[in-house]
Amino acid sequence: MSENGFGARLMHMLDAFACHSDEQDRLTRLYLSSAHKRACEDLIVRMRQAGMTVRTDPVATVIGRYEATAPGAPALLIGSHIDTVRNAGRYDGTLGVLAALVAVEELNRTGERRPFAIEIVAFGDEEGVRFPVTLCGSKALAGTLDPSVLGVADSDGIELRDALIAFGCDPDDLSNARYDPECALAFIEAHIEQGPVLEDAGQPLGVVTAINGAKRYRVSVIGSAGHAGTVPMSLRRDALTAAAEMVLAVEDLARASDDAVATVGAFTAQPGAVNVIAGEANFTVDLRSPSNAVCDDIAGKLCGTMTEIAARRGVQVAVEETHAMPSVACAEQLIGALGKAVDMTGHVPVMLPSGAGHDAMAMASLCATGMLFVRCQDGLSHHPDEAIAEADAHACVEAILHFIRMFKPVPNAGASPAFGLAD
Ligand code: GLV
Ligand code: MN
Ligand code: MN
Repeated sequence: MSENGFGARLMHMLDAFACHSDEQDRLTRLYLSSAHKRACEDLIVRMRQAGMTVRTDPVATVIGRYEATAPGAPALLIGSHIDTVRNAGRYDGTLGVLAALVAVEELNRTGERRPFAIEIVAFGDEEGVRFPVTLCGSKALAGTLDPSVLGVADSDGIELRDALIAFGCDPDDLSNARYDPECALAFIEAHIEQGPVLEDAGQPLGVVTAINGAKRYRVSVIGSAGHAGTVPMSLRRDALTAAAEMVLAVEDLARASDDAVATVGAFTAQPGAVNVIAGEANFTVDLRSPSNAVCDDIAGKLCGTMTEIAARRGVQVAVEETHAMPSVACAEQLIGALGKAVDMTGHVPVMLPSGAGHDAMAMASLCATGMLFVRCQDGLSHHPDEAIAEADAHACVEAILHFIRMFKPVPNAGASPAFGLAD
């Protein structure tokens, strides 16, 4: 392989996928959108060209299988997500899917098969931007997706169930999305770091030790709309100002903890006119911590504080939890193996926790999971200027290949498959 050849191939594919966007001048690829459909179709063609058989599951996860030496053997799962936030960068999620594909292309080119299959999974809903749910694909594969989520609706009132049908999926088949745990050896996810640690350490690759827990809420504040010129300040029940106080309380609560971050990323007020007191305000809360106890504690205080603010200001507040995922530790054996794989690329593996959420969190309830991080420029992510170096992309694919070549299933291990490492 020429210098950075895998990196050049991967960057080329990432550029091609960035064209699958729902918006003309920026990258936005929401779950079950037409851009998501085009990305799936593109991926399916590339997977087939890499010698894989491909299926799409009931929640639109694309799964490509590169067969084992003995057909039907349990699989090592590798992947990430292909949905994006609005006005996204091109690497968050998609990098992990396409890096795995470049690795399988190489195995296929050289005719190399392993004693286990390799299945590349491309989840469609990691970001949770379109519907008030998240990790639908990985939860469905792990068998933990509550079927009641099919009834949630996006901001246009389209229910998840109907969006799946329009996409060509069969939501009634949801229970069949569950991957047979006896066939899943482990799950590996490569992802850009989305933070500054690797750049600061001067290293291209990191190995994730644990992923922070997260909770998300949708908050609705109902006051009383009225004329901006005629209602005295003392008689107002302004939903927007009440919500604004709540937003600052969210920030204060996270700031008071050393171990948590909280974000209000979306805020709307109705009716939204310069001369009308807002009768309704809605906002989201995203709360994260490596400690589940801290997350629970802040969540409890948040609800209490919002209720107090609402009572004092004469408005009503409803707080709905839309996502809850405890922090997840990566499997020790995979941390060690990925560290060794990074060593083999000639770089020093940096061990670090992940502040961002990942499909690996949901996959941890199916099988052992591990994550590989790739350095990103200025630690920037969820931003169109997200950037990685071609040499780092190359190192990522090389590390995946080293990992694949050292990974081995352990026979006769009982109900759930076990794995070890080549000597
Ligand atoms: C996903 O990117 C998340 O951590 O919100
Ligand atoms: Mn991601
Ligand atoms: Mn993301």
